[in-house]
Amino acid sequence: MNVLIVYGSTTGNTESVAEMIKEHIAHDAEVVDVTEVDLEALKQADLVLFGASTWDLGGIQEDFEEFMEEQFSKDLLEGKDVAVFGCGDSESYPDDFATATDQIVDEAKKNGANIVAETLKVDGDVEDNEEAIIEFALQF
Ligand SMILES: Cc1cc2nc3c(=O)[nH]c(=O)nc-3n(C[C@H](O)[C@H](O)[C@H](O)COP(=O)(O)O)c2cc1C
Repeated sequence: MNVLIVYGSTTGNTESVAEMIKEHIAHDAEVVDVTEVDLEALKQADLVLFGASTWDLGGIQEDFEEFMEEQFSKDLLEGKDVAVFGCGDSESYPDDFATATDQIVDEAKKNGANIVAETLKVDGDVEDNEEAIIEFALQF
């Protein structure tokens, strides 16, 4: 199985999570910044993991938002196995904690993707969430 991990990250936290998932997943996986996605590689992947942080009271990380608005389509995602992860901070933003991930799930579903796992919401420091990140990676 070939896995593509696509992340949007402003300060590097979601990027670190993406790398940690790659390290622990039991398949060939490639990590790519959302600004550098090869759409053909995405179409060919058996499983796509989308990762994005939440900014500005429930907004999607800006690079990921742009990609989602411009590229999410039935042509790209219909029938595709997808799972979503992302970073946020529930202490500072309790009402909007990691809600970007929910928006990505909704939009992926609208475009025909199969959501194959529960979303991973990383709260605060990435290192404090290592166990949950490894568990997320190991389920695939
Ligand atoms: C100005 C600002 C706004 C933020 N807004 C939210 C938010 O609405 N919800 C949330 O869960 N986290 C929010 N965060 C926390 C970030 O999502 C968190 O720092 C995350 O780890 C950043 O990940 P990244 O480095 O991958 O972009 C905000 C942080 C900043 C500095």
